[in-house]
Amino acid sequence: MDWQVNTVVTGVDGSEGSRRAAEHAAAIARHWSAKLLLVTVVRTPEGWWGIGGAPPSPEALSAALIEGQQKILSEIEGHLELDGIEHETVEELGDPVSRLVDVCDENDADLLVIGRRGAGLAERIILGSVADRLCHMAPCPVLIIP
Ligand SMILES: Nc1ncnc2c1ncn2[C@@H]1O[C@H](COP(=O)(O)OP(=O)(O)OP(=O)(O)O)[C@@H](O)[C@H]1O
Ligand SMILES: [Mg+2]
Repeated sequence: MDWQVNTVVTGVDGSEGSRRAAEHAAAIARHWSAKLLLVTVVRTPEGWWGIGGAPPSPEALSAALIEGQQKILSEIEGHLELDGIEHETVEELGDPVSRLVDVCDENDADLLVIGRRGAGLAERIILGSVADRLCHMAPCPVLIIP
């Protein structure tokens, strides 16, 4: 079998875990001269429930969230050693798992690199829920970074 790594996708959510994942993804992309996609997914604000007052419109909330994700992406871009690596940042809106699966599909990803933990507040012993579901649903091999 001739498995080549031409395209690497990594999920970035601003957490320490996803930073380590992105570092590994960049190292792998460099080694293979592969293309690197840094992907952040903004959860859609459906179901938002405020305490008192009217909730922000979905549009306003999306805009605020997307701004936050852009900051996350520019931070990680600044942090990684990306010289000589063909890379792209991608912002998606929706369910992180479905959107990451779609990005992998659409770009014929050869590898998806994610952290074992993310930005969630729950003190999980093993695996975050996004990481867990991606292991079941990803269309390509998944590398989990502890
Ligand atoms: N919104 C997102 N956009 C892009 N990648 C993500 C996103 N959320 C998680 N990931 C990827 O998945 C990895 C694991 O995060 P996950 O969300 O599963 O853990 P968690 O936040 O600790 O737990 P949970 O979200 O279940 O409370 C992260 O390190 C990151 O690589
Ligand atoms: Mg999470």
